[in-house]
Amino acid sequence: MQLTALTLAFFVGESLAQVHEAQLPFPDVTYPDAISPNPNAVSGAQTNQTSPPRYPSPWGSGAGEWAEAYKKAIEIVEQLTVQEKVNLTTGSGWQQEQCVGQTGGVPRLGIRGQCLQDSPVGVRYTDFVSLFPAGINAGATWDKRLAYERGRAMGFESRDKGVTVQLGPVAGALGRSPTSGRNWEGFSPDPYLTGKLFAESIRGIQSTGVQACAKHYVGNEQEHFRQVPESRDYGFNITQPGSSNIDDQTLHELYVWPFADAVKAGVASVMCSYDLVNNSQACQNSYLLNHVLKSELGFQGYVMSDWQATASGVPAILAGLDMTMAGDIRFGDGLSYFGPNLTIAVLNGTVPQWRLDDMAVRILAGWYLVDGHAEVPEPNFQSWTPDTFGAVHAHVGSTWGTGLVNQHVDVRREHGRLIREIGAASTVLLKNVHGTLPLNTTARLTAVFGEDAGSNSNGPNSCKNHACDTGTLATGWGSGQASSPYLISPDAAIQHEVVSRFGSYESITNNSAFTQINALARRVNDVAGICLVFSNANSGEGFANVDSNYGDRKNLTLWQGADAVIANVSATCNNTVLVIHSVGAVEIEQYKENPNITAILWAGLPGEQSGYAIADVLFGRVNPGAKLPFTMGRKRSDYGTDVLYTPNSEVPQFNFQEGVFIDYRGFDHRNVTPVYEFGFGLSYTTFEYSGLTVEKLDVADYMPATGASGPAPTYGRIDYDTSAHTFPENITRIPLYIYPWLNSTNLSQSYGAANFGNNSFIPEHSLNGSSFSYPPSSGPNGGNQGLWDILYHIRVNVTNTGPTVGDEVAQLYVALGGPYDPKVILRGFERVTIEPGKTVQVTFPLARRDLANWETEAQDWIISEHSKTVYVGSSSRDLPLSVLLK
Ligand SMILES: *[C@@H]1O[C@H](CO)[C@@H](O)[C@H](O)[C@H]1NC(C)=O
Ligand SMILES: *[C@@H]1O[C@H](CO)[C@@H](O)[C@H](O)[C@H]1NC(C)=O
Ligand SMILES: *[C@@H]1O[C@H](CO)[C@@H](O)[C@H](O)[C@H]1NC(C)=O
Ligand SMILES: *[C@@H]1O[C@H](CO)[C@@H](O)[C@H](O)[C@H]1NC(C)=O
Ligand SMILES: *[C@@H]1O[C@H](CO)[C@@H](O)[C@H](O)[C@H]1NC(C)=O
Ligand SMILES: *[C@@H]1O[C@H](CO)[C@@H](O)[C@H](O)[C@H]1NC(C)=O
Ligand SMILES: *[C@@H]1O[C@H](CO)[C@@H](O)[C@H](O)[C@H]1NC(C)=O
Ligand SMILES: *[C@@H]1O[C@H](CO)[C@@H](O)[C@H](O)[C@H]1NC(C)=O
Ligand SMILES: *[C@@H]1O[C@H](CO)[C@@H](O)[C@H](O)[C@H]1NC(C)=O
Repeated sequence: MQLTALTLAFFVGESLAQVHEAQLPFPDVTYPDAISPNPNAVSGAQTNQTSPPRYPSPWGSGAGEWAEAYKKAIEIVEQLTVQEKVNLTTGSGWQQEQCVGQTGGVPRLGIRGQCLQDSPVGVRYTDFVSLFPAGINAGATWDKRLAYERGRAMGFESRDKGVTVQLGPVAGALGRSPTSGRNWEGFSPDPYLTGKLFAESIRGIQSTGVQACAKHYVGNEQEHFRQVPESRDYGFNITQPGSSNIDDQTLHELYVWPFADAVKAGVASVMCSYDLVNNSQACQNSYLLNHVLKSELGFQGYVMSDWQATASGVPAILAGLDMTMAGDIRFGDGLSYFGPNLTIAVLNGTVPQWRLDDMAVRILAGWYLVDGHAEVPEPNFQSWTPDTFGAVHAHVGSTWGTGLVNQHVDVRREHGRLIREIGAASTVLLKNVHGTLPLNTTARLTAVFGEDAGSNSNGPNSCKNHACDTGTLATGWGSGQASSPYLISPDAAIQHEVVSRFGSYESITNNSAFTQINALARRVNDVAGICLVFSNANSGEGFANVDSNYGDRKNLTLWQGADAVIANVSATCNNTVLVIHSVGAVEIEQYKENPNITAILWAGLPGEQSGYAIADVLFGRVNPGAKLPFTMGRKRSDYGTDVLYTPNSEVPQFNFQEGVFIDYRGFDHRNVTPVYEFGFGLSYTTFEYSGLTVEKLDVADYMPATGASGPAPTYGRIDYDTSAHTFPENITRIPLYIYPWLNSTNLSQSYGAANFGNNSFIPEHSLNGSSFSYPPSSGPNGGNQGLWDILYHIRVNVTNTGPTVGDEVAQLYVALGGPYDPKVILRGFERVTIEPGKTVQVTFPLARRDLANWETEAQDWIISEHSKTVYVGSSSRDLPLSVLLK
């Protein structure tokens, strides 16, 4: 059967209703036989892989730092008509306005629509913006200050372009599988490291008046099967997006963990993801949205859908979705689950007024929270054309108006400086023998090899959405990238460096020129020069396929034929330095072992200043201090987790059987030795740890939350006269534009409501606005405040025992001690700069949450009776000091 977009959407709604009903309460999920358990996975993680119904949807209270914003929002919402409220919740449709997502406004009160724009590395789809280092590079810095500065710089650029919501940062994909396509957009598969940098990024972005959007919530751990139409285009006949099946403990301890930090940091918005979680759509999963996000974490902002991730209207809204993006059901179809459908649903009583009011208040409050309403100008760019003049409503073309659409505002300031700093600060030195690095600029001959050192001869932005791998790799592909205003290649930067001192330099960036490569390598070796080989591995978002990598990587080897170049160079050049630009782990054990490869650097995706940043490290202007934010394993099977590449069912089932044991937790648990462990990174100097001390703080006991909220407030009065909601006479209707008005005063005839059928699924308790109960772990803005109490201060002395000033990332790990706990988990880190011979004391605060497990029976964070050991050192496997907590 050939499904059209519309019937497809209809089916999704239908089967979801069934899924919701079938979920009472906590049945153990059984899986189709087609799934063969991963032999490496840890058993016992499959309990409670369910998403039980949780209604009603909690209404915001405006607690804490949100108070003022709520007050302002409520003052406005009180004055709004139904369709004005609806306007705030609904995108105007794909390519109908300037931004990738744009809501309606309230012209009557001078409130414009919001401009929601990608990406987590800069402003997508426009010019004169910076291309920042990727999230994974921010992760590799382990530097909270740099994460904040990066967020703040991106925020300024978004703001000056007229963006009110930057669609980032990213903590999902967290990085369950090393090959997953979008891991690089986030920081690290470790939830603690990600949580801290996620929060700092949010604070940075929002300090500029731009709202951040914490995404993708949650379980968005692979690209394959994230969307039905996309999967069908790739020849996979699935009926719904894949389901990430996550048990409750893993959900809390791993995947939701960083989102708690985001809520605590005051994030204005959260984006729910494409996947199903425990067989219920992430964007209408009442357990995830109503319960975990809005009750447990006390989130006061709003939830928007990923683009086309809304699978229904009424059921999704009752489950906690506040805004639909890009507004239409399928891109450009002119239909919406919100818009007029929401107006109808409110008028016919299937969405209570309090719920609509809550949606509107949350959305406006997010804007007021960051003060953006005052500070952000109107968008001065148009995502859909680089031209100065063009169609105002790109989707419907120039018949509906043309004009100045791109003002080409240069918003970059001097962010290139920060980008270079982060590029160097995120370069991990993995190997360095015979003092190879830093390089001596007076080497007789410096030779650079590899396509990854060079430029894309068609220009740095020639591949749409960066979906290719040509020349040096500075960003991954998809909606998570931005244009590069220039791209400094390693070839250009290193050549400049050598030649400015009148040295000799040659480079070969053609990876098939083996005759020339071998000849040059031999000449270098003859004069005891230096060979630098550049290599990469790319991935991105599922909508683009690069060399049969459908977003997710199909392997963990290097791209562009780099392995052959490395083999040829290192066969003759015994002083070969390998540089890797990659989205994550690659198989490099053979290079670690190879004596002719005297140094290895992982430089991630450094953005526009790539060449300068690597030159800073190679030539020793910057002493590398970065640490791997993920594990480099020998081979992909060592990870015990992987992307599901072929459907195992009509609704693909991603079974997170490994539970909390991803990345280093899995390697440690299964006793698998990595090539380079999580947290590993060398310096040009050396450090020693000493003097570990524990200070136990006097803190009040944990008080589980009890009780329930008061009744849901409503603001203003709804006019139930349907004639008040039809299209005004005097407006020009742009075709396929999503408006909030009705076609007819007869609700059942307006837009053929007879077809709605399964969009009217009303879960039990969902219309009850009298109160919602507070789960024990709950509290406003990040959960129960007791979880954030600092119980201990752990202190350690770090001494620079080498010859040069350098940065060390002191790391603290905890063994929670239970039979199902990882050997160690990261629970503290601090990047410090230390002069040679000097000692710096580092203090790690340990919060209650840091020492607790999520107890599924208590539904709360509990510090178990198992003894807790704290370890401190320079990586997850180099932990010289330890102490038992008492
Ligand atoms: C896809 O799968 C469904 C359910 O198994 C089946 O009814 C349909 O015919 C299939 N469609 C195609 C194009 O193979
Ligand atoms: C909804 O927003 C659109 C776009 O900003 C605007 O044209 C329309 O007038 C708004 N509708 C209402 C009821 O304010
Ligand atoms: C309302 O939603 C239904 C799906 O529930 C959809 O079929 C219909 O087209 C929508 N109406 C409008 C006007 O978007
Ligand atoms: C009310 O409106 C919604 C949204 O258009 C629709 O899905 C639902 O079927 C309607 N319910 C009734 C009882 O008319
Ligand atoms: C750099 O190389 C030159 C020539 O090989 C040598 O004289 C000089 O001592 C080296 N400098 C350092 C700092 O190693
Ligand atoms: C891995 O994938 C890359 C990119 O598609 C490709 O260039 C490379 O040849 C693949 N490796 C192997 C061993 O097939
Ligand atoms: C290392 O390089 C030397 C030449 O300098 C060569 O003879 C040797 O075979 C190389 N070793 C490896 C493992 O490739
Ligand atoms: C590398 O090769 C050169 C030239 O063959 C030789 O002089 C040098 O000792 C070799 N270095 C190492 C570390 O083997
Ligand atoms: C599953 O969750 C329910 C409800 O929170 C709880 O009562 C039950 O004990 C849990 N089961 C397991 C095995 O954790």
